[in-house]
Amino acid sequence: MRPAAKIRAVNPTQIFPGSGSDRFHLVDGEMHCEGLAITALAERFGTPLYVYSRAAMEDRFDAVRDAFGADARICYAVKANPNLSVLRVFGERGASFDVVSGGELARVQTAGFDTSEVVFAGVGKTRAEMDEALRAGILAFHVESAAEVEVLEDLARERGTVAPVALRLNPDVDVDTHAYISTGRKQDKFGLDLAIAGALVERIARSSSLRLRGYHVHLGSQLKDPKPYARALDRIEAFVDAASARGEGVEYLDVGGGFGIAYGTGEACDVRAVAHAVVDRIRARGWRPTTEPGRFLVGDAGVLVSRVLARKDGGDKGFLVCDAAMNDLIRPALYGAHHPVGAVRAPDRAPAPLTVDVVGPVCESGDFLARSASLPPMVEGDLLAVLAAGAYGASMASNYNSRPRPAEVLVDGGDVTVCRRRETYEDLYRAEIDS
Ligand SMILES: Cc1ncc(COP(=O)(O)O)c(C=O)c1O
Repeated sequence: MRPAAKIRAVNPTQIFPGSGSDRFHLVDGEMHCEGLAITALAERFGTPLYVYSRAAMEDRFDAVRDAFGADARICYAVKANPNLSVLRVFGERGASFDVVSGGELARVQTAGFDTSEVVFAGVGKTRAEMDEALRAGILAFHVESAAEVEVLEDLARERGTVAPVALRLNPDVDVDTHAYISTGRKQDKFGLDLAIAGALVERIARSSSLRLRGYHVHLGSQLKDPKPYARALDRIEAFVDAASARGEGVEYLDVGGGFGIAYGTGEACDVRAVAHAVVDRIRARGWRPTTEPGRFLVGDAGVLVSRVLARKDGGDKGFLVCDAAMNDLIRPALYGAHHPVGAVRAPDRAPAPLTVDVVGPVCESGDFLARSASLPPMVEGDLLAVLAAGAYGASMASNYNSRPRPAEVLVDGGDVTVCRRRETYEDLYRAEIDS
């Protein structure tokens, strides 16, 4: 990793409009991150560029810690942003990790963190992945099917060890979010039907190679309302109380993640309200409260900086064609998700804003970053920022249209570090065999 480079820091004066974190702020009408000018970062590292604020991540981690209490286990959901430097920010703050693949586990190990508090969820773990996690000595497998229990027992027996298990329950709780990120309803593929979970508890109790350690739910992502968390807990408590074996050996309840952010409209999820709804009830059972937020910790801590390539006026609407595209940030194309956008530097005069679609160069009409955005008139070479892009941005980026993925930089109080270099053309075909 390149050493941190100094860029002159400026005192924060004003939050950047639409940003969910005051670590992105205005100085003389120009966007800064923790005192560093975004324009200088773009000139130095090129565009498209993901810019992350370490302080913004720490602010959010501390908010979750304050809400859930010092005894709670906070497992950062690696999928939201798996960059090794991001893992370090949270690991150094006392977080553990929630992983959903062998690759994510390998990242935690590569970042140098203890795996004994790692939880491994995911509806389809391979035998090889389970074996890797067993050898890593993780806290628990968040089991999502009866078939998984069979494989796990077989592996544990083979290795002469005991596999720690927490059952991911499907509480059939409806939440107000996009259908693709709703995960706790009966029709969703995730978690165990409660009747099957009951049988699995007995199955685990009979096995000398398996040990029940806890329960887990994850209701979905981008949630704002605390009530579904309480409803899920009602169902888990009823499930556990229906048979004494279901409470035996249980050490923790993981209420999942899913805490939503504002994306420029309304409020972020009130994590205190979520904690208030569940934490004391969990403690009262002698279980350790556990949570696994992703988006809430990193979403508002990152922006995608892009340079305007062309302004197209005329017809029914205007377009700003910029150098970032759906391959760099797929959320708008995939979910119709809204990300606020803003001009990095306000124009000297303040002409009336224009309503434009912000689009990328990819050959798809679905390649847009913002629709009907209100922006000052911008021209080729100007910089714009797509806000709240720290979660599920770089982590979902691809090479579609053979576009190298952007660089990512981490700003830390006046210093900036490249935490992922920009890909080259060679990176695009490095794994291909040209026979
Ligand atoms: C099991 C599990 N835990 C945690 C998360 C993190 O969700 P969020 O980023 O909304 O907090 C996810 C997201 O998909 C998940 O599937």
